[in-house]
Amino acid sequence: MFEISETLKKIPPYLFVEIDKKKKNLIAKGEDIIDFGVGDPDLPTPSNIIEAMKKAVENPKFHRYPFGKGTKEFRKAIADFYKKNYDVDIDYENEICVLIGSKEGIAHFPLCFLNPGDISLIPEPGYPVYHIGTLIAGGQSYFLPLKKENNFLPQIEKIPEEIVKKAKILYLNYPNNPTGTFADYDFLKEAINFCKKNRIILIYDAAYSEIYFEKRPVNIFSINGAKDVVIEFNSLSKTYNMTGWRIGWACGNSFLISALAKIKENIDSGTFEAIQYAGLEALTGSQESVVKIREIYKRRRDFFASGLKELGFDFDLPAGTFYFWVKIENNSINFVDFLLENGKIVATPGVGFGPSGEGYVRFSLTIDEQKIKEAIIRMKKIWGK
Ligand SMILES: Cc1ncc(COP(=O)(O)O)c(C=O)c1O
Repeated sequence: MFEISETLKKIPPYLFVEIDKKKKNLIAKGEDIIDFGVGDPDLPTPSNIIEAMKKAVENPKFHRYPFGKGTKEFRKAIADFYKKNYDVDIDYENEICVLIGSKEGIAHFPLCFLNPGDISLIPEPGYPVYHIGTLIAGGQSYFLPLKKENNFLPQIEKIPEEIVKKAKILYLNYPNNPTGTFADYDFLKEAINFCKKNRIILIYDAAYSEIYFEKRPVNIFSINGAKDVVIEFNSLSKTYNMTGWRIGWACGNSFLISALAKIKENIDSGTFEAIQYAGLEALTGSQESVVKIREIYKRRRDFFASGLKELGFDFDLPAGTFYFWVKIENNSINFVDFLLENGKIVATPGVGFGPSGEGYVRFSLTIDEQKIKEAIIRMKKIWGK
């Protein structure tokens, strides 16, 4: 009776439907599934944040429409977070907008700047929302392959001139989902210069900025002139195990921030202020839990790495995030299917993140060490090791 819009028709079907169906069937049969699929922390939100939320939710002043770019207190805490961790200055009045999770902002932002025919430069493999947000805004995606031989950085200098002319947005995401790699200072500087020269907005997705192991990733605002072109998206989701709470922020160039705030004013009415209050506790309270979270992911990473090594897999140790990007010999959908059928193990086929993801599988280390151990045992059985 109803026909969906041309825009919705363009949105590709969920690629993992078949795997998800098989997974659910196996669970229904009572099989013990080990799920490395979803990038959603298994650990609980730290108790100090929960306590702050309990208190906030009882306060009637937080029960009204939140409106605007977020509470002053929370925006100040975000600015302090950048100062303390990265020695970077962010003006809480004009350079921050609180979001209902960073995904919300990433998806809405292209509506502010793309006109039909405009191009977004999108790394692949990558987080699918860059492409979907571009499509919804009526723009077109030009994909930039991330290859191991280029340290999983896009080759910006190779983008054809006619594409650069039509490009309005460049997306970058480091620490990177799904590859677990970082971008170095020189690359980010090159990206900023490219964007300045060609009047392109640089969307920097830093959702995993605090999930690092050996060293902290570079903050893009530590590079001179970044604020001329950059809007960074960040989040409490991964740092504080708060994916379900839906709270994040955008920060950077004040013009870009005000445009995003305008779109949001007309679509949602901001982030529940009790959640912003809890977010304030997350950023200003004890950071012991973040240190622990990093330690736990590092232990899981090292443990999984030694298992994969024994199994003979080819991979780079992730520098951050909780993902493992593992090279495989065959087709990634077949591989994932095989692993599910024979080991009752769920992983994500690399091709689901873009064509350059073919030949890889992503494992999300959001399960405990015991389960990781069991998964390695099952894999050894499958491959007779
Ligand atoms: C690269 C990347 N960016 C952004 C997000 C969105 O996170 P949130 O909306 O929870 O802040 C995710 C979530 O998985 C992600 O992987």
